[in-house]
Amino acid sequence: MSSVKIAPSLLAADFGNLQRDVEMVNDSAADWHHLDIMDGVFVPNISYGMPVIKTIATHATKPLDVHLMIVDPDRYIQAFADLGANILSVHYEACTHLHRTLQAIKEAGMKAGVAINPHTPVTVLEDTLKDIDLVCMMSVNPGFGGQSFIQNTFKKVRQLKEMIEAQNTDTLIEIDGGVNDQNAGHLVEAGADVLVAGSFVFRSEDPKTTIASLASTAS
Ligand code: DX5
Ligand code: ZN
Repeated sequence: MSSVKIAPSLLAADFGNLQRDVEMVNDSAADWHHLDIMDGVFVPNISYGMPVIKTIATHATKPLDVHLMIVDPDRYIQAFADLGANILSVHYEACTHLHRTLQAIKEAGMKAGVAINPHTPVTVLEDTLKDIDLVCMMSVNPGFGGQSFIQNTFKKVRQLKEMIEAQNTDTLIEIDGGVNDQNAGHLVEAGADVLVAGSFVFRSEDPKTTIASLASTAS
């Protein structure tokens, strides 16, 4: 049995009750807190910044999985390390010197992740795979929660899984966007290790039960 990790995306939380929602994730079957940072330049939306991240970090008891949807992410590596991020993912499309950025993330004491947009083939990661702890595969176009899952993702997960096995690396495959109980099981079958879920969790009647069911339907 594979044990999939669940990372609820706090982008879909109720920001008026942020502490409550972070604590709900603490008390749930979730493995990580997923934080979406958007700059209004790399993606056409702005999410939240340092004061909010600090609040999340103060209350969170599980690893912080930070997804940077920003240009020039190198500028903020140390700031996120200081805030207590455990995994820091940068976008492939935003990094001119990806290898150098990955080294800098690791030197700052975090796991290094690379996020790829739906149009970006997994093969572009062939030569950096051994340096990547996690690939955050976007299954929607980044920028907004609540979008529909792009079906082509299944093929990309299988391709990436083959690359990871061929190179014998420990890289985790994370799926981000439109994850729900309809696709979770198929994603895990295809090779996914981590599922991010925002609206499916936070828009549900009982988010804690939804997290638990996601973790079990997918294993
Ligand atoms: C999209 C973000 C996702 C998003 C997922 O740009 O990276 O993490 O919050 O939200 P849902 O699960 O609603 O698609
Ligand atoms: Zn994300």
